[in-house]
Amino acid sequence: MQRLIGLRTIRGLVSALGTLLAGAALAAPDPAVQERLSPCIGCHGAGTSETEGVPSLGGQMPDYVVTQLFQFREKQREAAPMNDIAAGFSDDDLRAYADAVGTLPPPSRAGEPADPALTARGQALVAKHQCTSCHGADLAGRDAIPRIRDQREEYLAKALAGYKSNARPGYDPAMNEVAQELSESDIKDLAAYVSRL
Ligand code: HEC
Ligand code: HEC
Repeated sequence: MQRLIGLRTIRGLVSALGTLLAGAALAAPDPAVQERLSPCIGCHGAGTSETEGVPSLGGQMPDYVVTQLFQFREKQREAAPMNDIAAGFSDDDLRAYADAVGTLPPPSRAGEPADPALTARGQALVAKHQCTSCHGADLAGRDAIPRIRDQREEYLAKALAGYKSNARPGYDPAMNEVAQELSESDIKDLAAYVSRL
């Protein structure tokens, strides 16, 4: 029942976000926006991030990116340097950056595939907490729910710990609720497994 309520809230979203997501039609990327993406790529990479602590943006769901840029701008999600970067963005900028980000190729898996023991632990945790019911069968995201497969390991661990401590309030409380049930070693295993899919 909890999960059903969570999903319904996601579809509803808060009204300010709902308005932003309404015009979601994916227009051809504006060359001016591609140009504007170059400072972002300097940190985030052109799809795959090579920088510790900086998430890969490639293949990320544009509707999810809108929610996060909105949260950075409104300082609901506090994370340097993104609060300063998003501070001056208009609503149109949020959408334009999100659509441009959506054109970057999905990240490639860093390093070796998970060993059988980690795979078994990771699969059991994903099944137990129904991660795929929201993030999609292959954890590649859908609608405003982020792609997480092949994301950087230390960033995944930070994100999950942030939801658990509520330092990172999601645009929807679903993830904060899920993370309450995760132990520190669950978080370690999930980050290691999901980053190596
Ligand atoms: C100086 C480095 C830097 C620059 C430049 C930068 N970012 Fe970021 N960005 C980060 C870091 C670090 C994070 C992770 C913050 C955290 O730990 O939660 C982040 C997070 C994000 C996220 C959240 C990703 C997720 O999976 O939740 C988005 C979206 C994003 N940045 C978009 C952009 C865009 C668009 C630009 C260009 C306008 C940009 N960033 C420029 C460093 C940077
Ligand atoms: C009920 C739906 C739901 C379930 C179940 C769920 N998630 Fe999420 N997840 C979300 C939503 C919604 C967000 C975006 C929240 C926000 O605004 O930060 C999210 C965000 C995340 C992020 C942050 C991604 C990023 O780029 O910053 C990670 C990591 C994540 N989830 C991992 C998991 C894992 C691992 C599981 C299973 C243990 C799981 N999720 C289960 C809905 C869900």
